[in-house]
Amino acid sequence: MLVDLRILRFDPERDEKPHWDTYSVESGPMDRVLDLLHQVKWEEDGTLTFRRSCAHGVCGSDAMLINGRNRLACKVRVDQLGRRVSVAPLPGMRVIKDLVVDMEPFFDQYKSVKPFLVNEEPEPERERLQSPKERARYDDTTKCILCAACTTACPSFWAQPSFVGPAAIVNAHRFIFDSRDHASEERLEILADEDGVWRCRTIFNCTDACPRGIHITQAILEVSNAVVERRG
Ligand code: SF4
Ligand code: FES
Repeated sequence: MLVDLRILRFDPERDEKPHWDTYSVESGPMDRVLDLLHQVKWEEDGTLTFRRSCAHGVCGSDAMLINGRNRLACKVRVDQLGRRVSVAPLPGMRVIKDLVVDMEPFFDQYKSVKPFLVNEEPEPERERLQSPKERARYDDTTKCILCAACTTACPSFWAQPSFVGPAAIVNAHRFIFDSRDHASEERLEILADEDGVWRCRTIFNCTDACPRGIHITQAILEVSNAVVERRG
């Protein structure tokens, strides 16, 4: 199938503003958008710049706006999009070049919620035990690959980039409800801030965008409830 692939290009050393370039590319039956980007880069224009690593939906590095939705280029099959495909960088982020955006603010927000296990008790001889039920409590939010598709699909984030964003709340949830962790109070305090959970308007864009199928809005509601209970 011959596909019109439109890519929003921007080279800060040459361009004053972004512009669309269109490439006519041949797509095989199982090709994904990432295959088409590779085709352009390797056969037509080596200056095309984008991130990718695993090519199998695991590393989270190739999230971009594809036909108007945030998705992983390595997971979207071209035959499911049709003959016209448009690709642009994640919305609401500073573009460094072409499809590469500055992820530093995203990772700063992620780090702000202490996304690691905190437990000052002496280490047991073997692992810290947890029942299957306790593990299941936060299973969904362990699946995050930090692709930023959710946060950059969120109108509250676009309006207020200081909003900590869905991805950071998902990763806070992963530890807040971990029975072995002792820093839930601190995380809830951080997320009770004006840039915390209250900026969520339950629009569900984040849940729709997540390539891992995480129930993000549900996780945000659970964290919001925990913030309220803590205050009560
Ligand atoms: Fe990506 Fe989903 Fe994690 Fe958001 S919650 S960063 S969409 S994997
Ligand atoms: Fe790793 Fe797409 S390249 S998730």
